[in-house]
Amino acid sequence: MIPVALSVKDLRKTFGSLEVLKGISLDARQGDVISILGASGSGKSTFLRCINLLETPDSGEVRLGDEVIRMKAGRDGKAGPADRRQVDRIRSRLGMVFQSFNLWSHMTILQNVIEAPVHVLGRPKADCVAEAEELLAKVGIAEKRHQYPSHLSGGQQQRAAIARALAMRPDVMLFDEPTSALDPELVGEVLRVMRQLASEGRTMLVVTHEIGFARDVSDRVVFLQNGLVDCEGAPRDVFGSAGSERFKTFIARHATH
Ligand SMILES: Nc1ncnc2c1ncn2[C@@H]1O[C@H](COP(=O)(O)OP(=O)(O)OP(=O)(O)O)[C@@H](O)[C@H]1O
Ligand SMILES: [Mg+2]
Repeated sequence: MIPVALSVKDLRKTFGSLEVLKGISLDARQGDVISILGASGSGKSTFLRCINLLETPDSGEVRLGDEVIRMKAGRDGKAGPADRRQVDRIRSRLGMVFQSFNLWSHMTILQNVIEAPVHVLGRPKADCVAEAEELLAKVGIAEKRHQYPSHLSGGQQQRAAIARALAMRPDVMLFDEPTSALDPELVGEVLRVMRQLASEGRTMLVVTHEIGFARDVSDRVVFLQNGLVDCEGAPRDVFGSAGSERFKTFIARHATH
């Protein structure tokens, strides 16, 4: 049996009076590529941010491999992570790729990629440089390694951000709309890299509006609606007869834009 890489149980998150996540559960086995779809405001980013503890969930359980993220009740009664070191460890095992790349603008591409492996993991710099160069070649921007992010196109910056996440050798990659900020002609080059990662057996959670990627590349599609899983399953099922009416409406709307 394939081991579970990431398991989320009954995750809930409220901002003030707004209940954004109303109990979301999801299991990703090693090598699974799961696309998360949903309308704007349905809680997709919040879900990913709760997994890597950029937001603290109110309740629920997140388990990475066999490590459960420990929570404790804070003074205000809300849950918070019990152990900062565990948070750092968990984050280093989760590679996050954001819509807006979030590269460090004052560092070259190579420096961006080696920063965390050297300073967070404490790995020897020469090893990190060698591995970074391999990763940058893999995503097709080896020749840009001594440039600053602002000198790269959006597609190149996003591929650099993917290389930076991979340099931490994460167990699971989380992507939050990685192609949404890109000009249409640059979307393909980023999706190609993501398809390659998927075919190499990486475990990936991908929030995306790229219906083609969701249908053709993922093992599972999860459709969020108002903070709940509206429907989920293998793409051929969800895009076929198992998809809810709401999912079909969502897809139809996206196909026409
Ligand atoms: N830090 C925050 N404080 C208050 N409200 C927030 C916060 N973060 C998100 N929200 C609200 O939670 C809801 C879900 O937001 P979220 O960003 O998770 O949606 P999304 O599905 O990622 O949307 P999009 O497709 O536009 O990125 C929205 O109504 C948003 O305004
Ligand atoms: Mg979002």
